[in-house]
Amino acid sequence: MVSFLRCLLPLSVLTTACLSERPHDTVPELLDVRRDYHSYSNVRDFRTEHLVLDLAVDFERRVLEGAVELNLQRLDAGAAELRLDTRDLDVAHVETAAGKGDWSPGSFRLDARDAILGSALRIAMPPGANRVRIHYATRPEASGLQWLAAAQTADRRHPFLYSQSQALHARSWIPLQDTPQVRSTYEARIRTSRNLLAAMSACQPPEIKRDGDYFFRMSLPIPSYLIALAVGNLYFQPTGPRTGIYAERSVIEAAADEFEDTEQMLKTSERLMGSYRWGRYDVLVLPPSFPYGGMENPCLTFVSPTSIAGDKSGVSLVAHELAHSWSGNLVTNATWRDFWLNEGLTTHLTHRIMEAIYGKRRSNMERAEGMADLQRALAEAEKPGDRALAVDLRGRNPDDTVTAIPYERGALFLAYLESKFGRTTFDAFLRNWFDNHAFQSKITEDFLAYLDAKLLRAHPGTVPLEKIDEWIYKPELPDDAVLPSSEAFSEIETQRAAWLEGRLALADLPTQNWSVQEWRHFLDLQPDALTREQLVTLDRRFNLTLSHNRFIACDWFKIAIAHNYQAAYRALEQHLRAVGRMRLMVPLYKELAKTEAGLTFARRVYADARPGYHPIAQTAVERVLSVPAR
Ligand code: BES
Ligand code: ZN
Repeated sequence: MVSFLRCLLPLSVLTTACLSERPHDTVPELLDVRRDYHSYSNVRDFRTEHLVLDLAVDFERRVLEGAVELNLQRLDAGAAELRLDTRDLDVAHVETAAGKGDWSPGSFRLDARDAILGSALRIAMPPGANRVRIHYATRPEASGLQWLAAAQTADRRHPFLYSQSQALHARSWIPLQDTPQVRSTYEARIRTSRNLLAAMSACQPPEIKRDGDYFFRMSLPIPSYLIALAVGNLYFQPTGPRTGIYAERSVIEAAADEFEDTEQMLKTSERLMGSYRWGRYDVLVLPPSFPYGGMENPCLTFVSPTSIAGDKSGVSLVAHELAHSWSGNLVTNATWRDFWLNEGLTTHLTHRIMEAIYGKRRSNMERAEGMADLQRALAEAEKPGDRALAVDLRGRNPDDTVTAIPYERGALFLAYLESKFGRTTFDAFLRNWFDNHAFQSKITEDFLAYLDAKLLRAHPGTVPLEKIDEWIYKPELPDDAVLPSSEAFSEIETQRAAWLEGRLALADLPTQNWSVQEWRHFLDLQPDALTREQLVTLDRRFNLTLSHNRFIACDWFKIAIAHNYQAAYRALEQHLRAVGRMRLMVPLYKELAKTEAGLTFARRVYADARPGYHPIAQTAVERVLSVPAR
């Protein structure tokens, strides 16, 4: 194991040093792979063990106000300062205490604000002190919260608030050690108006009393990016003994139908990865402005309503967030450089769950889709180092570097290992990885060392170390990667070619049986592949401009923009105003930004749509449209 690390570590550092674009006169600081460069917290001196939140939700002022208490493990008896992460918080006063002793007023200082990291909060710690209480309020512009007016919700009658803490946003609503290296349990009291329900990433009985005063307890240690809160006019409907849906009234029925297989997904996951440790698994459907498809908040996955398509075409999203209950929530990436450990393993497990429940035809389509996404992301990567799995993110915002690469290259790496060692052996390996590191945070090199000890050495000559090195640290995909192939997609390609070349009439395409995945593959064309006439007939026959499926609509709008097909622009504008899920709108702004006229249109639409977007999505669009950041 030691020799393995000796072999890999210098290489990784070397790769980083060679690829970084620093001027030649400064020697790049050696990368410390165990350090989280995205937190100010002094984790070698103190570690949060338990956190107590007490917050009141003020929809009028758009602030959360109250206090957080941190119970810390003191690792260094001499440490005189606790450094926490914050962003845009108003800290009123702090208190400190030692053990069960009384609280005494404490002194603190807020450092200058860094655009990516926020402001360090420095609290003076008297000898022996191991508890702090911070009285604070959030600001309306908190990067990790979205405050929605009633009009922006499905039912349009009540306001809505939700958090999104990953990657660096927990610090915008709680002052804490905002690093995935630190895990803590938590409890919370949330006060809001009587008619609203609060929900958190903590197991709550579905039959909770709706009285505006809610208590939560997460008794398993989790990293800060998994602390989550939502408040709205939410209702609950079960989908099984351990699973259910929280949503607004008007969407709950459709959501419960769409996600009716959740309980079965949970059982399948347990068969693959071992027992589910979190008690309940519920899904909370958010308003359409939610910037992601889903977020794996423990016990309570958050999802975008855009995946509720009426035909279960988007349910792999739930399989994905559920799989995170092992890859991410049970064993967590220790730094954002190791993000692929969360997402790559999860993507691999998602395919396994989808295959077990919906069959190989479906899961192969999804693998092939992932491969196409990967190829695009590799081509668009900002710098060669970004095409690797372990990425040096020093000085960068982890949100800005989320691409298909950690997901799909990660999954491809695991599919490669699975093909080499066989399914049974590789499944057992992954299951042991989770069991042996449960409730720990791990870096890439920990995974590699475990892989080396349990698989590579146990099966000598099967996979050489250099291969692993290529997968993790090199920009190029190894040439013996096992590429997915989909029979269903090959059929689509044959039919599409026949139509494009005039050998087959549009009416003769067997579209009645096409799934959303097949439609999307059909539309996955080169920008200039269609003649104007083909574009118009396609739209007339299949009404693509008005497609009810947000994914098909988005793919179609990309084609429409590339052809300046004005007939779709009204629907495009409506789509951009209605949907805040980044994956369904940032690519459209990118396509629009390619021409002067498109950019003008995009900027006008964005100016109106902006208040409906989450702060994270606003930042993403503003990068594309070169709108100066606020
Ligand atoms: N944890 C991610 C979402 C995320 C990533 C939030 C990085 C903040 C920073 C979640 O599990 C995820 O991967 N969501 C995907 C879903 C998809 C792959 C099925 C998304 O939102 O696109
Ligand atoms: Zn994920």
